[in-house]
Amino acid sequence: MQKFITLAQIDEIADQIRKRVAVQPQIAMILGSGLNGLADSVQNPVRIPYSDLPNFPVSTVQGHAGRFVVGELEGKPVIVMQGRIHYYEGYSMGETTLPVRVMHRLGAHSLFVTNAAGGVNENFVPGDVMLITDQLNLMGMSGLNPLMGPNLDEIGPRFPDMSQPYDREYCNLARKVAAENKLTLREGVYAGLSGPSFESPADLRFLRLAGADAVGMSTVPEVIVARHGGMRALGLSGISNKANLDGSTVTTHEEVIEAGRVITPKIETIVRGVLRGL
Ligand code: HPA
Repeated sequence: MQKFITLAQIDEIADQIRKRVAVQPQIAMILGSGLNGLADSVQNPVRIPYSDLPNFPVSTVQGHAGRFVVGELEGKPVIVMQGRIHYYEGYSMGETTLPVRVMHRLGAHSLFVTNAAGGVNENFVPGDVMLITDQLNLMGMSGLNPLMGPNLDEIGPRFPDMSQPYDREYCNLARKVAAENKLTLREGVYAGLSGPSFESPADLRFLRLAGADAVGMSTVPEVIVARHGGMRALGLSGISNKANLDGSTVTTHEEVIEAGRVITPKIETIVRGVLRGL
């Protein structure tokens, strides 16, 4: 595969999907580790495995199914990624975010992202849901920005604004839905690291000082690419474990998946409510 993703490559994949579905999706969704369940609620679903699509990256992580599900949720046409692509799987930043480009080209004007994250804010407990209000692009700061390479001028500007990565109206809607359903909704800054190793106690102390409330291995590049194309973003983190600043406990992928079982219904309530309110 070439180094940078081209518009032709994006459109070739989008055309393949278009041939198989009747609806034009408006909302794109990416579901995080252990949070896949919502994709099974999509009505009139057309399921397209990533492996059916030309030059499409395939997710290799346990808890990620690896397919698009196109259909309706709360009456809105959606395209859902049941399983995301992570940079740590060995793909380039462009490949990692290629699905966002494809969903945008298919007509999606908004991106809803969910992820499993470690709670850095000391008030957070496993099972909490955090509305992402801003993000720390630590991958970008170390030279890994998905927009590197020739700019796709047809999609967005060379130097896109990032003053509002997460849409304020969507945030307000999510707060309202959470209140109506008596769900505690935490809020804060999501820090994106490449992974796959979890953070050391020193990493976590650094993140806390830097103003992070949650930390994970995804989302930030996806939201940058979405904003580049003018998509509006909503982000929800499921807090699967507490940051371990003194090294007294270990973090495992199993606990991340397990916490997903508690978090999934909360995220589903919020996502459904926001969709209804659009
Ligand atoms: N760190 C990074 N990513 C994660 C974590 C964590 O503690 N939990 C779930 N995803």
